[in-house]
Amino acid sequence: MEKCKLIKVESPEKGAEQFYQLIKEELENDRLHVLGLATGSTMIPVYAKLTASELDFSNVTTFNLDEYVGLPATSPNSYAYFMDDHLFNKKKFKETNIPNGMAADLDAECNRYEQALQQAGLDIQLLGVGENGHIAFNEPGTPADSVTHVAELTDSTLGVNSQYFDNDEKIPTTALTMGIASIMSAKKLVLLAFGEKKRPAITKFLEGKIDSDWTITYLHEHDDVTIITDLDM
Ligand code: GLP
Repeated sequence: MEKCKLIKVESPEKGAEQFYQLIKEELENDRLHVLGLATGSTMIPVYAKLTASELDFSNVTTFNLDEYVGLPATSPNSYAYFMDDHLFNKKKFKETNIPNGMAADLDAECNRYEQALQQAGLDIQLLGVGENGHIAFNEPGTPADSVTHVAELTDSTLGVNSQYFDNDEKIPTTALTMGIASIMSAKKLVLLAFGEKKRPAITKFLEGKIDSDWTITYLHEHDDVTIITDLDM
């Protein structure tokens, strides 16, 4: 807990500004070659800030946290589409990676993805948090030693995330996700949480105890965690 830095900001836009400053410093000090990325509404101002900036990512490789099973990259509901739309079509990266939720053999795809990200070595992993305290798609009960795997989404997550599905496509009930151990392998973790709906998760985290029903609490086992939030805690 002592190692966790909590940065209070006035708004999501100010939070995005904080993340930009952090990334800028890491790039300037040649400490950022592999960046873990996240999706969700929290990340929209972050990617807007990065795309509007002068930052050069042409030597940076990215790995996304997760992807729905069964949605092609052409579906506006897929995380691949989200990333193209908000970041990759606007900024040049060395290489970008997202788990392939269309793979015929999903377990083999998870193994391939985990190996690739371990070989690359994550310098920074960006994280959001679900209302039930999940990170990536590590739902309540996911063990600490989990690596990239196929996850069953909970009713809570399906309910929250289905509001972003903007056509008749049904929200998939499974996803491929980095595991807790995959995320914890990053040298630095930066979690963003904006809005009252995230208060229970941040409150649970600040209690300081690891509780596998709130996977955000696993971050206590990491020695370089920054949380950027607009919540008064
Ligand atoms: C999904 C993603 C998470 C993300 C969460 C919160 O469940 N798998 O990585 O943190 O949504 O999304 P939002 O930022 O829209 O609140």
